[in-house]
Amino acid sequence: MPAIVVVGAQWGDEGKGKVVDLLAERSDVVARYQGGNNAGHTIVAGDEVYKLHLIPSGILYPDTMCIIGNGVVVDPGVLCSEITALEGRGVDVSRLRLSGNAHLIMPYHVMLDRATERRLGKFSIGTTGRGIGPCYVDKAARLGIRAQDLLDPGILVRKLEIALETKNELLERMYDLPRLDPGVVAAEILPHAERLRPYIADTALLIDVALREGRHVLFEGAQGTMLDIDHGTYPFVTSSNPVAGAACTGAGVGPTRIDQVLGVAKAYATRVGEGPFPTELDDEDGRRMTERGNEFGTTTGRQRRCGWIDLVALRYAVRLSGITQLALTKLDVLSGFERVRLCVAYETREEERIEEFPYNQTVFHGCRPLLEDMPGWTEDLSGCRNLEDLPPRARGYVDAISGAVGVPITLIGTGQGRHQVIDRVEI
Ligand code: GDP
Ligand code: IMO
Ligand code: MG
Repeated sequence: MPAIVVVGAQWGDEGKGKVVDLLAERSDVVARYQGGNNAGHTIVAGDEVYKLHLIPSGILYPDTMCIIGNGVVVDPGVLCSEITALEGRGVDVSRLRLSGNAHLIMPYHVMLDRATERRLGKFSIGTTGRGIGPCYVDKAARLGIRAQDLLDPGILVRKLEIALETKNELLERMYDLPRLDPGVVAAEILPHAERLRPYIADTALLIDVALREGRHVLFEGAQGTMLDIDHGTYPFVTSSNPVAGAACTGAGVGPTRIDQVLGVAKAYATRVGEGPFPTELDDEDGRRMTERGNEFGTTTGRQRRCGWIDLVALRYAVRLSGITQLALTKLDVLSGFERVRLCVAYETREEERIEEFPYNQTVFHGCRPLLEDMPGWTEDLSGCRNLEDLPPRARGYVDAISGAVGVPITLIGTGQGRHQVIDRVEI
């Protein structure tokens, strides 16, 4: 390696949790760099299913340090519950570290997220309602509360007073919600402060030391490229930068220290929440993907929208994150389709064929996918562990994707389980 970013290459839920868990076995540090508990990363280890929202997906290995970087927004109550739940299942959480610079999601962020969505009505984004957007708003407005503020109750109350001055006006006048008292909010937060105190650290320094000692550091992205606030399908995006470059700012490392970027993509495409999705299916094929892929959100339980793989969007993701290798997950879900389809280009309203992802929202909204068919396969892939085990048609499909996006596919998901993969990642 020694430093590798794992990044979602579609609309999130690509299987990053499983891939990070797999690579964490060979890593010394796993660091989350953005997002918050809007993420839901699933790991299936034997009969045990872990759904992680904030804690990095390396936590199941006893020797891996897990870092929540400064770019992550942290709901302290959710983090405490996640720690407690893992400990209750016998997982050692003592190697967790939380950046003192990470911003905290406060109760008013959650209230404002939900109230804004209600107000937007049919124009809503379909957020996870976890307060992510409003927390990043306060970070940029320099009104945020950070993890390190938990260590000084005096400062915490003072900052809450300042933040709530304007929030209370909004809550009361705009949304008809109750005003919040800074002292009461602080009293709610402070029990979490005591719990989280031992984990708070200078995590950028910890990563620097690990890299200088030649250790393997893995940066775990949340969400995906098409949900990136700058490069995604704005405004139907999340409020952070999931692209690989954000690992630098969100964990505190320079770009020259990153060696590899591993993109994670499903063998088809899904999206949860509102917003454009060119290859979306509303037919038997789509329903089959939902059923066979069990496409229901890890965080909110919402049904995910399903469609064919979008190579225009995937190439865009490869370009934006400098992806050097790709993990293609859930190939097993496509077994039994008579033919599989790939979106190789878009056609605009003016009937122009384009192969680059359009930057213009109006153009993009008018695009329809140009699909190419490949013959499907019927074989069950769940036992495949080597490329040679794949039926030729499944292999042909994988090669077609790799050829179209110009990077090798070094990991292929053949089932939910931790070891149901064809793993050729060299780190
Ligand atoms: P993440 O947010 O990117 O970590 O992905 P999620 O955990 O939200 O959603 C991916 C889902 O697909 C989870 O339920 C995983 O257990 C499951 N999954 C991951 N890889 C595979 C695979 O190769 N095959 C199958 N059948 N399921 C997979
Ligand atoms: P992981 O890490 C899929 C979507 C929401 C909504 C939009 C904005 O599990 O891949 P937000 O609450 O972030 O303000 O919602 O982004 N979204 C995700 N979709 N996977 C995720 O995370 C997501 N996190 C947010 O559904 O459309
Ligand atoms: Mg998820």
